[in-house]
Amino acid sequence: MMLLEPMGINAMTLPNRVVVPAMVTRLSGEDGFVNDAVMERYVRYAEGQVGLIVVEATAVHTARSGPLLRLGERRFIPGHRELVRRVKAVSDSAIVPQIIHFLKIARSGWRQTIETLETAEIDAIVEAFGQAAARAREAGYDGVELHSAHAYTLSSFLSRLNRRRDEYGGRTLEGRLRLFGRVMARVRERVGSDFPVGVRFLADEAVKEGHTVEEAKWIALRFAQLGVDYISLSVGGKFEDAVRREGHPVYPYTGYSGDRCMPGAWYPDQPHAHYAAEVKAHLNAHGYTVPVVSVGKINDPEAAEALLREGKADLIGMARQLLTDPEWPRKVREGRGGEIVRCIYCNVCKKLDENFKQVTCFLWPSKAIQAPRARPGDEAPAWEEQDSLRGRATDGTVKLSWSPALGEVAGYDIYRVDGLGQPSIVEAVKVNRFNDRSVLGGVKYAYHIKAFDSVGRTSPPSNTVRLEPAIPDLG
Ligand SMILES: Cc1cc2nc3c(=O)[nH]c(=O)nc-3n(C[C@H](O)[C@H](O)[C@H](O)COP(=O)(O)O)c2cc1C
Repeated sequence: MMLLEPMGINAMTLPNRVVVPAMVTRLSGEDGFVNDAVMERYVRYAEGQVGLIVVEATAVHTARSGPLLRLGERRFIPGHRELVRRVKAVSDSAIVPQIIHFLKIARSGWRQTIETLETAEIDAIVEAFGQAAARAREAGYDGVELHSAHAYTLSSFLSRLNRRRDEYGGRTLEGRLRLFGRVMARVRERVGSDFPVGVRFLADEAVKEGHTVEEAKWIALRFAQLGVDYISLSVGGKFEDAVRREGHPVYPYTGYSGDRCMPGAWYPDQPHAHYAAEVKAHLNAHGYTVPVVSVGKINDPEAAEALLREGKADLIGMARQLLTDPEWPRKVREGRGGEIVRCIYCNVCKKLDENFKQVTCFLWPSKAIQAPRARPGDEAPAWEEQDSLRGRATDGTVKLSWSPALGEVAGYDIYRVDGLGQPSIVEAVKVNRFNDRSVLGGVKYAYHIKAFDSVGRTSPPSNTVRLEPAIPDLG
């Protein structure tokens, strides 16, 4: 598979093309030091054979925030060095931190904006990125990723909503690109030409009057001109449409742009794949081969492979899926794709992040703060009864229930075939019932379920229940 082939990016070699994009873990304290839980999180990705591990957003400065990793001072280096050492001890995964600058926000709803920044403050941001990148190199990382996405400082300068009126201003694309250009130049000066420097930015701001992929293509071209070593795309995640909660600092993923950033279960698969395809085609047409990371609800190995084969992406990013099951790449390599614990995009992880709570996965055993490990001797769940699954259609709902499977059961995947389609997982639950409220009268449905254990071993399919809900009588 192309997905599992190595790839060189500047001086680093990725063992394969699977990337875990940055995902805040909230496992550190507010002091921002790497601790054992943080290390364990990244070691699990390494053991799972992820090609490129991007460590969560790590602050380049010392401004207060909730639990967030930091590289704003030298005292943070040893923790990162130990993290890199532990990752390298178990794998050949490449590992880079995502470094971030953000402005102040208050519980009152007030937030500092880029329009208020003085030139000296902008100079300090440039310097802070340069120094943090140098510290990343000193800590032993394989490279560094500049966070120029979502609601944070670099992204706010790039935005079409940048209202500055000086040389960093929003009147021109060049003005908006100026800060990033300076940051990139300073980072290069500090880390040298052989240290990979990636960037994450928005293919689409997904807010009113924000930039779309039409401009993102040109922004990416400038990044390529500046010598960026890879480009990781994201979408949305802006303050402009965030929903205010009284007494809480505003969280930039609560509005529509937040939905777009972490598309939930109700979105189709791979809703953003076309962005990477367009950006990549644009770069290639201009003679650049900078690798582009596609991200957003990608979790099927065949679909990921197709994106690479069709030239729509160079690397495949999976955030929530790799949180759910960090063993994804290893399972695919070993032909055990059926044992992947499939992310259901319920966004419990996002909610935890929003509330500054340790980011875990709904599908893990309750209270676990890391993905469960296989226990020797455990066997896949099995059905005791032939006809475990029962179902009926009533009031626009299909009600399913079943007798529990035998063995260590972490949950049940609900498979549905609607009309003539292939079975797809519509939900995963931890209880013995499920109400499907998204059925349409007059359509034939077939359901079966599979029990899975905490490491993804599944039971055979249950019996199939076939139903055709009635078209409601409107008379
Ligand atoms: C809990 C959580 C934390 C995240 N933290 C970051 C972050 O620190 N930096 C970043 O660029 N994106 C962050 N993201 C966005 C993801 O990297 C990714 O772009 C998004 O989840 C969509 O990819 P997916 O569908 O594969 O999950 C975060 C997402 C989640 C769910």
